[in-house]
Amino acid sequence: MCGIVGYIGNKPAYPILINGLKRLEYRGYDSAGISILNAESKIYKCRGKVNDLETHINGRNITGNIGIGHTRWATHGVPNDVNAHPHKSQNGHFTLIHNGIIENYSELRTELMDRGYEFKSETDTEVLVNLIEHLYIKTKTSAENAVRLALQRVIGAYGLVIIAKDEPDKLIAARKGSPLVIGVGNGEYFLASDATPIIEYTNKVIYLKDGEMAVLKRDNLDLSSIDNHKHTPSKVQTIDLDIGEIDKGEFEHFMLKEIFEQPKSIRDTFRGRISMEKHIISLGGLFEVMPRLVDAKRIIIVGCGTSWHAGLVGEYLLEEFARIPVEVEYGSEFRYRNPVILGDDIVIVISQSGETADSLAAIKMAKEAGALVLGICNVVGSSIPRETMGGVYTHAGPEIGVASTKAFTAQVTVLTMLAMWLGKKRRLLKEETYLKFITELQEIPDRIEDILKNNDQLKEIAAKYKDANNFLYLGRGYSFPVALEGALKLKEISYIHAEGYPAAEMKHGPIALIDKKMPVVFIAPKDDSYDKIVSNIQEVKSRGGIVIAVVNEGDKTIKGMADHVIEVPETNLALMPLLTVIPLQLLSYHIAIMRGCNVDQPRNLAKSVTVE
Ligand code: G6P
Repeated sequence: MCGIVGYIGNKPAYPILINGLKRLEYRGYDSAGISILNAESKIYKCRGKVNDLETHINGRNITGNIGIGHTRWATHGVPNDVNAHPHKSQNGHFTLIHNGIIENYSELRTELMDRGYEFKSETDTEVLVNLIEHLYIKTKTSAENAVRLALQRVIGAYGLVIIAKDEPDKLIAARKGSPLVIGVGNGEYFLASDATPIIEYTNKVIYLKDGEMAVLKRDNLDLSSIDNHKHTPSKVQTIDLDIGEIDKGEFEHFMLKEIFEQPKSIRDTFRGRISMEKHIISLGGLFEVMPRLVDAKRIIIVGCGTSWHAGLVGEYLLEEFARIPVEVEYGSEFRYRNPVILGDDIVIVISQSGETADSLAAIKMAKEAGALVLGICNVVGSSIPRETMGGVYTHAGPEIGVASTKAFTAQVTVLTMLAMWLGKKRRLLKEETYLKFITELQEIPDRIEDILKNNDQLKEIAAKYKDANNFLYLGRGYSFPVALEGALKLKEISYIHAEGYPAAEMKHGPIALIDKKMPVVFIAPKDDSYDKIVSNIQEVKSRGGIVIAVVNEGDKTIKGMADHVIEVPETNLALMPLLTVIPLQLLSYHIAIMRGCNVDQPRNLAKSVTVE
């Protein structure tokens, strides 16, 4: 939520900042701005995307080797030029970019107003930069001490970077709750919300810890806690991120690229983790906690958005194969509803970004209750893997499209391996069943390749229903979470209202909505409830509804009833979500494109939700 980038070194800062903002735009895109330290130290900012900022700046000669940039997802104050970051303090001593929320900003604002400060924007960030300045002037201290003093008064979350006019040889950064990565170059440092703006310059990074402050000079990095305890710099890590992975390549949009990447991303998820020769699944990040996992009495899965849907698939998988009771919780509900967490519970937090604020808060709670807390995350080095006691990276590669696609299938792949692995360890699976299953899992990427060949058919269906106002998605068993995910994809990027429902529940409400304008998408592979879903399709048809059905290849029964069928190959039923979700992703994508929507940056959304 909001992208931050900073640079200090000997190169021109502007191109580094503007390109960095383009990489971070998925985190927020309602306004953008930069400031570069030079004789003028002007702030350039405007409402809109990074491209609009570039146009706004075009033709001006912005020189300087130290600077900061920000792309915003509004929390306090509407998206406009004035509320865009950076914000300068009233007397010009400090310029600040900030990601997060200052919860006590209103009280601080009143206090500062009483001291003569006037505010131009509605943001909490302008309050913070003026608080820093007020303390700087009042205590006659150094810039970094003023930042420290101000942060000690702040309640809330932040990742921030500051330029101090009187100490022009440094950048000051701090984090609490919002991520910041430092890129270590030769006589230069980079700062960003994630490693994507940094990777083309250096693959050496340091992840700023929560509650840590950094003072970066060209040739020196000082780390300390916000309350001023010196820290030895964390180990410099080498990250393995291919620059090609953060480009659209031949695709028009990141989302389409990421949908088509799924055969590869799923292979990357199970690469090195499945050995057919030794007949084993090995999940290295769980070795140490294996005995506790195997004896688990209950697993609680926590996630938000698409990750929560993956968690639901996980519930079905873990209960079926490992016979462990599973509950799936939204991070935001779990953290505030005083849940019963027992000391022998296993809490698995699923998150693509590894930074979702509600999921992070759930981890804290679960740890305090003594549970074993594990993570399933995509972004290496992000906060959730660092806060958990073990876990599995999905290795799907950077996901830039705001609507999650390949991260979902990678999460489900990890949960599938986990369920199989636990089923085997708990001696619930026959060797033969286990082997057949992992063979079929490894064939999933090829099956997805086949489904992707139906892209044109999905485009045709999309053209027919792009103007619908409502969609309903129905499925049973493993297909129910897929129905939820299909509906979420459509609403996120096309702004069509869509609901996912368990097919049998249709009769308890949604059936009242069905008319001849309402497309109903059934996810109907040949599973145990196939006959029942066939009846549900008939119920929709007899009320004049339009039926689009995702079925297994060769299904004649549903073909005879539905308006459109989209075929997916057969596989083990428990693996079916990995296949049936693919046409739903493509359907949403094409509908959104035909409606003229920005699929990679849908309105009001952000990729990484680091605020509550
Ligand atoms: C946002 C994103 C979704 C994502 C959700 C959870 O809403 O737009 O795509 O599913 O956050 O994010 P996480 O990074 O925790 O999986």
